[in-house]
Amino acid sequence: MPAMPIRTIIEPFRIKSVEPIRWTTRPVREQRLMAAHYNLFLLSADDVLIDLLTDSGTGAMSTHQWAAVMEGDESYAGSRSFDHLRRVVQDIFGYKHVIPTHQGRAAERILFSVMCRKGHIVPNNTHFDTTRANVEFTGAQAVDLPSPQGLDPAASFPFKGNMDVAGLENLIEHEGRERVPLVMLTVTNNSGGGQPVSMQNARAVSQICRRHGIPLYFDACRFAENAYLIKQREPGYAEKSPRAIAREMFALGDGCTMSAKKDGMANIGGFLCTNDDLLAQQEKDLLILTEGYPTYGGLAGRDLEAVAVGLEEALDEDYLRYRIVSTAYLGEHISSAGVPIVQPPGGHAIYIDARAFLPHIPPAQFPGVALANELYLEGGIRSVEIGTLMFADAAKMDLVRLAIPRRVYTQSHIDYVVEVILQVFARRRELRGLRLTYQAPFLRHFTAQLEPAWQ
Ligand SMILES: Cc1ncc(COP(=O)(O)O)c(C=O)c1O
Repeated sequence: MPAMPIRTIIEPFRIKSVEPIRWTTRPVREQRLMAAHYNLFLLSADDVLIDLLTDSGTGAMSTHQWAAVMEGDESYAGSRSFDHLRRVVQDIFGYKHVIPTHQGRAAERILFSVMCRKGHIVPNNTHFDTTRANVEFTGAQAVDLPSPQGLDPAASFPFKGNMDVAGLENLIEHEGRERVPLVMLTVTNNSGGGQPVSMQNARAVSQICRRHGIPLYFDACRFAENAYLIKQREPGYAEKSPRAIAREMFALGDGCTMSAKKDGMANIGGFLCTNDDLLAQQEKDLLILTEGYPTYGGLAGRDLEAVAVGLEEALDEDYLRYRIVSTAYLGEHISSAGVPIVQPPGGHAIYIDARAFLPHIPPAQFPGVALANELYLEGGIRSVEIGTLMFADAAKMDLVRLAIPRRVYTQSHIDYVVEVILQVFARRRELRGLRLTYQAPFLRHFTAQLEPAWQ
């Protein structure tokens, strides 16, 4: 009898250095949560057992990255490490100008400061919180145009991150081309459930932009995961490498913003790319004002090296297969037990549909926050609400995101997370909503203070 092919997909690494994590009891967690004003951002990380708050900057670097760190050239100007990063970025992304920044939002702030002003409108498939805030900070309006399938958490469509192409056409027609300084496409669509954007959709958006003479920029944070999901799900791409797919996508645009804390596999870093010489000059002038000289942009030379190596590793097919399969593992284990999640599982996170999980808590009482807090109380797991607390009236869904840091947790950690979620699901009717007692004018979820609504 021929041997069965081995189907188990293992972590494609072995562990060389370990970091202890700390157990706490439920009474201790209750006390810590109250002291944190019921906002998981305000907890001390030492009081968290499994931290799924974000996949941003929380990954483990490889031996190659650590070796590259030692090669970092810390020269203020003309650093060899910047040349390395630029070479790698130009090879993958194909854009002419590469401007390093300390993280993604610095690239956003510079891009929107140069391109946007009051009266402008910036369409995006779905703005991430920092992207929306940076657009609005210039006085411009940030408009989300998700595809209709993207708004139904349970619908199993392969590219729920897509932009609503007809909506984009309409918006440009009704508001006028001169009010739209650029269009953004976020790959993958983080606030929309970590869902990928198809090549076909990116092509359609690009054609509309080109027809109207509007630049198209990618928010490229998770470009490698998006490329792998295209390879898996879009006809005609199965035989192409993630790198070739990424190149094809970026060729449809005029530039990008990037947080290297995601698919740059680094703990800090980012960049802004453009093909436009004049814009690049203005962007570098602003960069010098607040970030640093254009060959380091607020980063150490060693960080530039870590990102250069990390970008290559993010496109490795063994890594991407493990990444996508291990994220789906969490999603499939909880959804098969009835937990409502955004389907199908995306690249970097599983999103629980908190409105469906807690139908007795209205959006105004933050069902996502109620659920995230209970996961912490039950098992020391930290997740994040993406919903009414984060986006106020612009929230189209109330989700709890369980983001998986890259190369950090093993399958047994994830089995533990599954068990905790299922225990909370079993007694979901006991959970109650919250109300706000303090909010900041921007990005309120980071510092908001809440209290139980029943008190
Ligand atoms: C889609 C998206 N865009 C932009 C950002 C901002 O990047 P950073 O946190 O590096 O400023 C993030 C970060 O989570 C993101 O997910």
